[in-house]
Amino acid sequence: MSVFEGKHILLGVTGSIAAYKAADIASKLTQAGAEVDVVLTEHARRFITEITFRAITRRPVLIDLFDEPEERQIAHIHLAKRADVLLIAPATANILAKLAYGIADDLLTTLALATQAKLVIAPAMNTVMWQHPAIQENVRILEERGARFVYPVEGMLACGDVGAGKLADTPTILQAVEEVLNPPLRGVRVLVTAGPTEEPIDAVRHISNPSSGKMGYAIAEEAVRQGAEVTLVTGPTLLEPPAGAKTVCVRTAEQMLDACLQMYDQADVVIATAAVSDYRPAEVWQGKRKKGEQEWTIRLVPNPDILRTLGARKGKHILVGFAAETEELLQNAQTKLREKNLDLIVANDVSQEGSGFRTDTNRVTLLWADGSQQALPLMSKREVARHLLEAIRQKLLAR
Ligand code: C5P
Repeated sequence: MSVFEGKHILLGVTGSIAAYKAADIASKLTQAGAEVDVVLTEHARRFITEITFRAITRRPVLIDLFDEPEERQIAHIHLAKRADVLLIAPATANILAKLAYGIADDLLTTLALATQAKLVIAPAMNTVMWQHPAIQENVRILEERGARFVYPVEGMLACGDVGAGKLADTPTILQAVEEVLNPPLRGVRVLVTAGPTEEPIDAVRHISNPSSGKMGYAIAEEAVRQGAEVTLVTGPTLLEPPAGAKTVCVRTAEQMLDACLQMYDQADVVIATAAVSDYRPAEVWQGKRKKGEQEWTIRLVPNPDILRTLGARKGKHILVGFAAETEELLQNAQTKLREKNLDLIVANDVSQEGSGFRTDTNRVTLLWADGSQQALPLMSKREVARHLLEAIRQKLLAR
C-alpha cells in the first residue's frame, strides 16, 4: 500500500511560472491515494486556474480566507487540523518570507500558522533571488523550525537565465513528502558528537579549536527530522540545541568520552563530528594565574580518542568518523577508518574554500570500510547531513 493512501495533503501553490507543475504533483498524489486539497494564492491564479486542480483532485479548490464551503466549519481551521502534510510547491520568495515571519494575510499563510502538519517546501525562483541573503536566511529559519525543503535545481529558468532556481522534479518532491509521512530513520538510535572541546589551563583559560558545531548539529537536526531517536553530545558552541534531540552538554574530551560511553549501549549509529582536543594540560592551575614576566610552560598530555575507544568495543554499532585534513585527504582518511575500526569516514579537505570549520557549507567524500567511495560536490552542511544519513540508512537496510 502506498504511504499516501488515505493521507490528507494540503497543496499550497504560489505565484511562480512553475505553478503549472503543481498540477502534475496534485495528480500524482491523488493517483497514489491521497486526498489533496489545493490552496491557490492570488498570484498563483495568474498562472493557473482552480478548474485544473478541481478536475484533478475532484475536490473544491480553496482561495479565499473567507470562503466557507461547509456550513458548520471554519475552513482554514478545519483543513489545518486534518492535514498530514502541508506541501508548498512551487514556493516563491514571498511565501518563504511570510512563513519565516508568521505573516497571515491570505488563506495559505493562515493555514500554515494554524496547522501542526509537517511542512514541505519546494521553492522555485530566479537564481539571483534564490541566492539572495534574505531568502537564504528565511530558508535557514524555516529549516531550523523543522520544515523540509526540496531545494530548487540548476537549469534553464523561464527568464532565460541558467542557474539554481528551477522547481525540483515531481518524483523528488513526492519522495520528500513520503519521507515526512514515513520517516526513514524511525526506530534508529543515533548518537552524535559535535563542537570543540575545551581543556582548562586555569580558571579562565583553555585550549580549544575553532569548531562551530554546525556539521554535528545539522546531522542531529536532520536525523530527528528523519524520525531517529537522537542524542547529541556537544562541546561548548553558540548553537541552539536541536529541537527533538536529547542534548548532553560537556566541556572536556574526558567528559565527552564519559557521556558517549554512557549512551553507547542505547545507540545503533554513532556519528563523531566533534573536533576533540588531542591534548590537555597535565595540571589545571587553581584560580586564575596572574600575568608575569616569567615564561609559563604548560605540559600537555594526550586526551583519549573517543571514536577509537568506541571502535575497540564496536559490537553491532555503525561507527562514522570525520577526517578533516589539509593534505593526502583520502589516504589519511582511509588510515583513520581502519585504525579506529569505523564503517564510514567523511573526509573533508579543510584547506579548500567553503569547507571545514565555521562555514555553512562543506565538500566531502564518503569512504566506506568496504572500499567504496562517494565524492559529493560543495553543498550546505544540512545537505551533507542528508546524504550521509541516506548512506547510513542503506547500510542499515543491507544488514
Ligand atoms: O584522528 P582525528 O582526530 O583526525 O580523527 C577524527 C575523527 O575522530 C572525528 O570523527 C573525531 O570526532 C574523532 N575523534 C574522537 N576523539 C578524539 C579525536 C578525534 O572521537 N580524541
